[in-house]
Formats: sequence, structure tokens, C-alpha cells
Amino acid sequence: MNYISLKNIDSLDKWVKQALKIKKKPLKNKKLGKNKTLGMLFFNPSLRTRLSTQKAALNLGMNVMVMNFTNEGWTLEFEDGAVMNQGASEHIKEAAEVVSQYCDIIAVRAFAGLVDKEKDNAETVLAGFLKHATVPIVNMEGCTGHPLQALADAITMAEYKTVHKPKVVLSWAPHPKALPQAVANSFVEMMLLQDADFVITHPEGYELNPEITKGATIEHDQNKAFENADFIYTKNWSNYTDYGKITNNDPNWTVTAEKMALTNNAKFMHCLPVRRNVIVSDEVLDSENSIVIEQANNRTYAAQLVLQKILENAE
Ligand code: CP
Repeated sequence: MNYISLKNIDSLDKWVKQALKIKKKPLKNKKLGKNKTLGMLFFNPSLRTRLSTQKAALNLGMNVMVMNFTNEGWTLEFEDGAVMNQGASEHIKEAAEVVSQYCDIIAVRAFAGLVDKEKDNAETVLAGFLKHATVPIVNMEGCTGHPLQALADAITMAEYKTVHKPKVVLSWAPHPKALPQAVANSFVEMMLLQDADFVITHPEGYELNPEITKGATIEHDQNKAFENADFIYTKNWSNYTDYGKITNNDPNWTVTAEKMALTNNAKFMHCLPVRRNVIVSDEVLDSENSIVIEQANNRTYAAQLVLQKILENAE
């Protein structure tokens, strides 16, 4: 079993309930991972994913090895048949097979480069590990998705929702740097598995991959979208059509207390890290309606559920 996308979840409702059970007794399966090793390979920085996944593995009694390819590993080549006379020192074929001998599960983080859409959509790094590793692979955020984050988001919403079918708004917000679409994509995929009144709001031209948003309501008027919302989930992403570019940085899209006042006393969510007073005002982030810290806490239980399922599957 791998955990690469939301498609690996057979029943979101069931998984959320199982994760909430783990949250109540996180050390219950401390023996399950005994003598098993999780290898965490980072091609990009992290705070939450690194520490929460590590904590999840420790809760299961696993050993953990972490490697940052940004400054520690050999530069890898991913192309079959490449003549490696340029920068890359090692081919994914050897690297993945070698790491598989040291680890029982390999978790990989490799963001989109935001230069070549086709290459990013091919998920070169994840696909390379999937092809050449001989152990299960976990996606710790690839080019097009962040399924551990989306699972944590689903757990958080289940804890905080007060009605069966809440209104949930995914709102784009400005950011000075070009960011990938991965978090937004997985959030959309997760919401489309739920019984909710789900609305995506973003400036015109900032459409996500239409194959992912198929079936979702899109509203270009942010104020209208916020009306009566129960959850506001904010995230920046760069332009998907004019791939990887920032074509809008309108500060009027920042989530403020005035905008939150349009909602049904909505909870505010963001995957973090977040740029204060760019994505969201201090007032909103510091308000009692902000649940970003609990959302980050649930990353541990999302990761623990995934690791537990993989370990049980391997028994
Ligand atoms: N939300 C999230 O993935 O955080 P990190 O980038 O810090 O891991």
C-alpha cells in the first residue's frame, strides 16, 4: 500500500473516525512499528510535515531516518537513459533501491518546480520512487497534491463542524512568492468526498486544474462566497493557466475581520506556514475562530493513521 493521493482513501469518513480514535490513544499501537524504519526524504523545506510524521512514526514505535536532499544528498537524475555528464551524480534507480534496503517505508517531499507544467504533473520524483523503490511510498507533498495535509484538514473539520452539511469556502489569497497548487488541489479532492456546500473563490484567471475542480462551485466574488460560511480555508497558489506565474497580488483578497464578519461565525483554517497580514490579518489569525494550531496538531494523527495502515497491510 502507498499513500500518494486522496484516491488511496477507501472511505474518508471511516479514515477520519479512525484518526480521531488514534488521537484519543496515540500510543496504543506502540509495538506495531517495532524494528521498522521510516525514511523521510526532503527535497524541500518543512516544519510540520517533518515533525508530525516523525512523531507519528515514534508513536508507532518505529525508527526514523531523515535526509535533506537540498543540502545533504547527491543530486539525483530521474530520466531513463540519461547521459549523466551534467550536475546529477546518482540515478533514482540506484538511490531508490538502496534506500529501500534501509527503510520499510519511504516518505518523500518534492514540490513543483512551477516552470514546466507537464513535468510537474508527471510527479517526476514521486514517480521515480514509486517505480524503483521496493517498499511503500508516502507523499509528504508532491507537485500536485498534499494528501497528508488534506487528511488532517478533514479530521479538523470533523472535530469543529456543528452542522451535518457545513458551508466550506476555499479562498485564494495574495502572496509575494509563486506557490504550488498542491495544498489547494488536495483540499478540493478531499472536499469533493464530503457532504458539504463547497465553494472555491479566487480571482478570474486563477482556476486550478479543471480536472480536479470538476463538480465544485467557483465564485469569483470573494465577499459573496464568504456569506454564511462555516469554514474559511485560505491558501495562495500561483497561476495554473499561465503556469507558475503571479498574475494577481491584489491585497483586497487578504482575509480580514471584515470579511470573516460576512460568515456564519466561520472557523479560519490554513495549512501553515502563513504570511501574516498578507494572506490573513493578525486579527483573524489570533482570533478564537482560528483553528490553525489544532489543524497542525492533527497532522500527527493523519500521518499516524497512514503509517499504521501501511504497517498493518505489510503484516
Ligand atoms: N503544512 C505543511 O505541510 O507544513 P510544512 O511545509 O511546514 O511541512
